[in-house]
Amino acid sequence: MANRVLIVNGPNLNMLGSREPEIYGKETLADLQALCEKTAKTLGISVDFRQSNTEGELVGWIQEAGKAHQGILINAAAYTHTSVAIMDALLSVSVPIIEVHLSNIFKREEFRHHSYVSPAAKGVICGLGAHGYVLALEAMAKLLEPR
Ligand code: DQA
Repeated sequence: MANRVLIVNGPNLNMLGSREPEIYGKETLADLQALCEKTAKTLGISVDFRQSNTEGELVGWIQEAGKAHQGILINAAAYTHTSVAIMDALLSVSVPIIEVHLSNIFKREEFRHHSYVSPAAKGVICGLGAHGYVLALEAMAKLLEPR
């Protein structure tokens, strides 16, 4: 069976397309999902693409991913900078985790420079817009290759 990767998107990412397009780009969340599904197909993996504005729901999905998925790609959005609960959930699962951000969080306000996701992540991709999700999926497919 193909490896299944959970793609977790945090708060306000449902507003992509109309939300600060000069920072986050013109693609909508549906465009991003289509791009991830197309990329996954070429890589021989499958994706389970989700978004929530609720911290507890994100925590529940991460816990579930420890059983139902082989990897997690996460853009925790603003929770990246605030959520110990999301960090603890990520640290509790043993599948590989890749952190993604559309914008370059290090080029922005100081409070965005710290990530609670990074201590649990194998790697981080930021600043490359929607293409960052493609690169993260490529990296994930490589990590999941049988050795
Ligand atoms: C973001 C960066 C975060 O700082 C911000 O709160 C977001 C999106 C990004 O993808 O660039 O909502 O994670």
